[in-house]
Amino acid sequence: MTKEISEGIGAFYHYYPRLTVVVTARAGERDNVMAVAWHMPVSKNPPLYAVSISPKRFTYELISKSGEFAINFLPASEAELVAAVGGSQGKEIDKFGMFKILKDRSLKIATPILRAAYAAYECKVVNDNLYGDHRLLVGEIIAVHWHEEAFTENTTLNLEKVSPTLYLGSDQYLDISECTVRTLDREACISYLKD
Ligand SMILES: Cc1cc2nc3c(=O)[nH]c(=O)nc-3n(C[C@H](O)[C@H](O)[C@H](O)COP(=O)(O)O)c2cc1C
Repeated sequence: MTKEISEGIGAFYHYYPRLTVVVTARAGERDNVMAVAWHMPVSKNPPLYAVSISPKRFTYELISKSGEFAINFLPASEAELVAAVGGSQGKEIDKFGMFKILKDRSLKIATPILRAAYAAYECKVVNDNLYGDHRLLVGEIIAVHWHEEAFTENTTLNLEKVSPTLYLGSDQYLDISECTVRTLDREACISYLKD
């Protein structure tokens, strides 16, 4: 394989595949939902979760008004929904109505969560900063929803029950229902590689 080097970032795709979530938001009487591939856990104590959202998104407008959002982890069987909410603008349509998205009430915030989610975080915004062309919103997780059967006793995702939505970029989604899982002992790997 030839290795290319460039000074510019170009299409900026090298970090895919990524677990893609759906962010829900509500302000006043208006609910909205969008796909987000740029998200990450930031801290365990207190529990903080960050999403990187362009200020052009209607979802951002709602979050900046309400100071809250929810992260919804959807199974791969909902990839069509992820693509639909990531390809349509809440300023123009009511995505919940148009795509017949079922929602549930949150425990501590007004923003709904998606019924199809195998896990969801209710977040209150603790920080909102502009980095380049996106805003990095850090939310404190104040309530967590999850389907017990979606996770193993080790708290890992139970791949026999649920396949996560993994986005490869360029409108491609991965099907990892036939994947192999390897459990690696860290100490054994250190000895194996150093010898
Ligand atoms: C798979 C996928 C991942 C996306 N990830 C992000 C993201 O991380 N941040 C972002 O600002 N937009 C992202 N988008 C684009 C938004 O979801 C899209 O612009 C959406 O229409 C915004 O909806 P809204 O205007 O109703 O908020 C993504 C789209 C797709 C399809």
